[in-house]
Amino acid sequence: MKITVVGAGAVGATVADNIARKELCTDLVLLDIKEGLTEGKSQDMMQTAALLGFDARITGSTNDYSKTAGSKVVVITSGIPRKPGMTREELIGTNAGIVKGVCENILKYSPDAIIVVISNPMDTMTYLSLNSTGLPKNRIIGMGGLLDSSRFKYQLSLRLNCNPTDLNAIVVGGHGDTTMIPLIRLATWNSVPVTKFLTAEQQQQIVNDTMVGGATLTKLIGTSAWYAPGAAGATLVEAIVRDEKKLISCCVALDGEYGQKDICMGVPVVIGKNGWEKIVDFGLNEEEQAAFNKSADAVRNMNNVLKTL
Ligand code: 2OP
Repeated sequence: MKITVVGAGAVGATVADNIARKELCTDLVLLDIKEGLTEGKSQDMMQTAALLGFDARITGSTNDYSKTAGSKVVVITSGIPRKPGMTREELIGTNAGIVKGVCENILKYSPDAIIVVISNPMDTMTYLSLNSTGLPKNRIIGMGGLLDSSRFKYQLSLRLNCNPTDLNAIVVGGHGDTTMIPLIRLATWNSVPVTKFLTAEQQQQIVNDTMVGGATLTKLIGTSAWYAPGAAGATLVEAIVRDEKKLISCCVALDGEYGQKDICMGVPVVIGKNGWEKIVDFGLNEEEQAAFNKSADAVRNMNNVLKTL
């Protein structure tokens, strides 16, 4: 089985590295427009195979999509990352054209591929990928919610002084500093609601820190983060290729679910070999639904910018 990662910047390369380590495919193609970049990075990764013990053949391609032919899953990370002080939304002008072109090229050689979108602004890039390709909606999945949920668990683990893997916690809504909604009411520490252990003030702080998780790192590092986005991308690919039926927060097309239509946003979905297979209704309370609606307004405003490009 073949998997392709488009865009060999820090996020794309880290997705590929994690896919190889998890042994999710026999062939892994890394594609980028920058001459030599993917040839170099793929060789570097292949030189870890004997050390890490994986079998995947990783190859690079400088913008030659024929090498991606027959991919089961394609991960799109192309586009510019944000710089300190920038929002994900400010990237739209540049990244929309890039993502649209990548989708067209990919489908020429892999018409049955499931597409995972990581490029920002992720909700709008997912919506664009869906509308520009006309693919069945279950085959287009934006990755943001899984990443944000992992950041949420990290923040909870700091305050609870616990192991993040013992936490069940999910972030829904848009993948933006002001649009994501960490559902703290529903978060549990091995089945016990975390709200039992945290003051209202601590809960609010955790929610706030989760929402600016990406921006905090961009400020510290000088560019967008890659370890957690890369791990989240590979985890999502794993759920697809291993047909795991995992319940994950992903950005998918809504058609009335969570009260929204004609939009792609983060909601809990079951992921398997067909892409996203079903949306699960968590029953938001009034306050959470109001936040979801507000988030949808912001995502919809961003989607409208596509019409002006
Ligand atoms: C982030 O939040 C890349 O959007 C990504 O770090």
